[in-house]
Parts: sequence; structure tokens; C-alpha cells
Amino acid sequence: MPLRHVAEGVREVGAIDWDRRLFDELIPLPQGTSYNAYLLEGSERTALIDTVDPRKEGELLGHLDRAGVKQLDYIVSNHAEQDHSGAIPAVLAHYPMARVVTNSRCAELLALHLGIDRGRMLVVKDQERLPLGDLTLRFLEMPWVHWPETMVTYLEERRILFSCDLFGSHLATSRQYASEEDLVMDAAKRYYAEIMMPFRSHIVNHLERLKELEIGTIAPSHGPLWGRPPQILEAYRDWTSERMEDEVVIPYVSMHGTTALMVQRLADALMREGVQVKPFNLTVTDTGELAEALVGAATIVLGTPTVLTGPHPLAFQAAYLVSVLKPKARYASLIGSYGWGGKTAKVIQELVAAGGRELIAPVLVRGLPNAKALEALDGLAAAIAERHRRDPRIRRGSA
Ligand code: FEO
Repeated sequence: MPLRHVAEGVREVGAIDWDRRLFDELIPLPQGTSYNAYLLEGSERTALIDTVDPRKEGELLGHLDRAGVKQLDYIVSNHAEQDHSGAIPAVLAHYPMARVVTNSRCAELLALHLGIDRGRMLVVKDQERLPLGDLTLRFLEMPWVHWPETMVTYLEERRILFSCDLFGSHLATSRQYASEEDLVMDAAKRYYAEIMMPFRSHIVNHLERLKELEIGTIAPSHGPLWGRPPQILEAYRDWTSERMEDEVVIPYVSMHGTTALMVQRLADALMREGVQVKPFNLTVTDTGELAEALVGAATIVLGTPTVLTGPHPLAFQAAYLVSVLKPKARYASLIGSYGWGGKTAKVIQELVAAGGRELIAPVLVRGLPNAKALEALDGLAAAIAERHRRDPRIRRGSA
């Protein structure tokens, strides 16, 4: 990657990971990702904002050499997760006088996970400033924009916010700034769903706090930069708000086609009611696509057959995902077919309705759905549509 100019005294020196297809051994990365690191050269001191995943540390060191950095004074660590901090030991070895600048919680995690010597750390507090000569860094603690130790760094003279994971996107691209709105916003929304959605309430507060800053550029540590910050700030305000879409997400799995038939009936009935539907066959679903669909949907209906005595494992996994990602949906239900009994509803409905979501009466039928069961599915669609109509938080006609 060429060294890329961001502003006077600020260059990108991180790495694009075009080939990575899985993050945390969990999250699919269909478009790769990047680990953005930023070199700040003030008139008196030089700082690096975040590093890269260890698999790219050689590339980072090469970039710093190519940039002519003979002495590095500070490595700012906004977040201890290894995709940003994993190359810190290599950078410290390369620049024996450099110190890691971070908050106390992050210092603890860097020592714990990477064995970084506390003697080489400079611990800063919320709102503390660090001068580099003609450039000044300000640190703002923003816990839970992925881990509890996260912070962001603001470069006052250039009005750049280095936000690390916050406002990022898993997108490997030669494009430096987010100008292709559809491509980058879609990646940013998916990223929000996978990484940030569980921390929605924290992010609401952080967005308020960011209003204190005059931000000209947002420079995250994944994906393109935001040259027009309102583009992503407004999207985050919407995603984290109580506003929902008039939409039902239906993750489902079907062993012999019966549960699929029920999903089809429900989807058709919802469409007749004017409600948007997004069914996801879990045998072929990309987890990130499902997570992204959950960002705004008002209702989640899980479809599962009964296997042995409980839900199909893929449906259980999806229900668990819903319970940990904590999407804002306020309504949930369950549909499916069983052969001779079981505890499907008992095992799974608590997960789907976690977080105070209203559970609308499930439709679980034995064998093929008869006329009465099909009517029950139509009734479920009507019950969902009625709740959507009555709920002022739901944005109707725009999904
Ligand atoms: Fe990109 Fe939470 O690390």
C-alpha cells in the first residue's frame, strides 16, 4: 500500500487485508478488511495511532521505514484487540524509545494479552492532551465501542477523530474516503450490526459526547475514512435510535420442507398486510447479512422444526445470536413443525424474546399444517401488522 496523505503531518501507514475472509473466527468478511494506522508528525514529536494485525506487522514497519521515521515517540493504543494492538510489540522493538499511550483499562489489557511492559506505557486520562509540538492529541474514553477499554483520539489542529473500531467497516478497498455511498454505507451498517449493535445504549451517549467536537474527518481503523462525518454520524444516530422499520426478519431452517412452507405462508400474509419481510434460510445464510437485517427490523420470527426434543441447532444458533447482538426489534415469535412433541418453544423463545421483546403467540404445528394451522399463520401476520400499525416508533412505508 502506498503511504497516503490525510492532512498536513498525517499519513496512513496501515495495511489492507484483501484476502481475509473471517474475523474473530466468527464473522465472515466477504470484502476483506483493513487495519488503518496513522502516522502523525508534529514539529517536536512523532506518534503512531494504533497498529495493525500481527499478520501485517512487516508491512507496517516497512511503511514507517519508507516514511523516514527514525524516531517514534508514541504509539497511541485506542483499543487492545489484537487487530489494532497486535503489532505493538514489534513496533516497540523497532523503536526502542517509543512509549505506548493509552488509558488505564487498555494498559491492563495490553499487559495481559500482549505482555507489553508497563514501564513502556504512558497512561492518560479522559480529556487529557498530549502535545507533539504544533499538533495536539486529545483522548476521550469511550468504553464499549467494542471492548470496555476503548477510547478515541482527537487531533485538535486538523479536526480529525481517530475512532478505531467505531464508525469502521470491514472493507478492503483502494478508495481512501467513503464516497461510494451504497458500497461503504452497506459495509458500515453490516459492521455496526456485527460489532457495535450490542452496545447501542453506550453509543447513544458517545454520539452525544462527540457533539462537543468539531470533526472535519473521521479516521477509523477499519475501512475508508469519512470526509463528510455527518454521513456516518447520522446513520449511527438512526441505527442506535428507537426508530424501527415496518419489517419482519425470519431466520429459519427446514429439514423436509414443512417449516419452509409455513415461512412462505407467513411471508405471503405479511406482504398482503403491507409489511416488509426478509426470510433467511439458515443453511445458506451469511451471518453478517442476517445481523445487518436485524439493525432496524421491528419483529423477528424464528422458524424451526423440532429435532429430537428441541429446536434445530442452526435455529438455536440464530436465536443465540439474536440474544447477544441485542437488536432493537420489539416483537418476536416462533413458527415450525414437529413430529411427536419436544420442548422447542421452551428452549428457544426466551432467547428470541430476550431484552423485553413482546412474544406474540408462536405457531407450532404437528406435521403438515392443516387449514387451521395455515389460518393461524395468517393470524400471526395480522397480529404483527397490527402491532406495527400501533407502534409510533415504527417507520411505516419506508423499509
Ligand atoms: Fe477492530 Fe475490536 O477490533
